[in-house]
Amino acid sequence: MNDRQATGSPVTDPPPADLLTVSDLHVDYAGRPAVRGVSLSLRRGEILGLVGESGSGKSTLCSAITGVLPAGARVRAAGLRFDGRELTELPPEDMRRIRASRIGVVPQRPMTSLSPSTPVLRQMRWYHDGHDLADLLAQVGLRAVLDRPRDHPHRFSGGQLQRLLIVLAALARQPDLLIADEPTTTLDATVQAQVLRLLLDLRDRLGPAILYVTHDLAVVAQICDRVGVMYAGRLVESGPVSQIFTAPRHPYTRALLAALPARTERGRRLGAMPGHTVAEVTLSRERGARAGSAGCAFAPRCPVVLARCHEEEPTPITMGTDVVRCHRAGETPEAEEDA
Ligand SMILES: Nc1ncnc2c1ncn2[C@@H]1O[C@H](COP(=O)(O)OP(=O)(O)OP(=O)(O)O)[C@@H](O)[C@H]1O
Ligand SMILES: [Mg+2]
Repeated sequence: MNDRQATGSPVTDPPPADLLTVSDLHVDYAGRPAVRGVSLSLRRGEILGLVGESGSGKSTLCSAITGVLPAGARVRAAGLRFDGRELTELPPEDMRRIRASRIGVVPQRPMTSLSPSTPVLRQMRWYHDGHDLADLLAQVGLRAVLDRPRDHPHRFSGGQLQRLLIVLAALARQPDLLIADEPTTTLDATVQAQVLRLLLDLRDRLGPAILYVTHDLAVVAQICDRVGVMYAGRLVESGPVSQIFTAPRHPYTRALLAALPARTERGRRLGAMPGHTVAEVTLSRERGARAGSAGCAFAPRCPVVLARCHEEEPTPITMGTDVVRCHRAGETPEAEEDA
């Protein structure tokens, strides 16, 4: 899973330890699997993009890492290590402390994360009083908020609120890990670019690891070092952005890249591919599992499917810097076309 092993590193300079290591994580909601056997790692200062169509389990994975899954969710993992500590073994109080001080979350909808009936400036002061608020606000170009002590959230734009939440999540607390679950989905392209620049700048100055969930592969290409592609709860491919964008190995990744929208269509949600939706595939897999077969979840939509794919679930294979779950990962696309 670790691409360091594949690329090799200088003999005299041991590689930095991973900040976060997720090993074989499963999450079920009332018995329905949402995340299945996901393993990934994240180093300090690294930005990992997580992509996949709606319902593929991206938010569930984030919530499992931060320990905020709803009641009724069941989590199983071989390991969930954060900075050398096993999170699954921590008492809830310790987990809460780590979450509050070392893991920051930038939510998808800024409006729902702030109280609508309290002035924004007062809310900013609730969350951090020990820092120089004026300086932090200046860093995101919002020093003017100080002159608007009576303005409630609805008086601010989505982009302004999102930048204020980044102040709260990232600048004020300076977490080691920042989880941003589609933080720019509701923003227009110009404001999105501002927010992305802010996150990159923050990573360069403060060095947190960032897990960045998005539907937009163009955003991944812009800011991420590595990318993980999720499909029906599985991480089907992960590797450096340079590798995945130039030589994707999983047919689903290839389909996503082939459908990469033109610049004008950015922000379009993934999932416009022909074939069955994740929900349909999950349902047919559940039927298959009951009937004793459990093949690859992507098989019903896969353009290069083999009979084996309907029967046998592929296990992750490491190929260079890439990890892929596909029976045909070792073949060249030409060989697949010939088959
Ligand atoms: N609180 C919940 N209770 C029951 N099922 C849930 C809950 N949250 C998510 N699910 C289900 O788990 C699966 C994964 O959902 P999740 O929200 O993690 O997907 P996602 O990749 O984040 O999708 P999106 O791109 O739409 O945000 C889906 O089938 C979803 O219906
Ligand atoms: Mg989500």
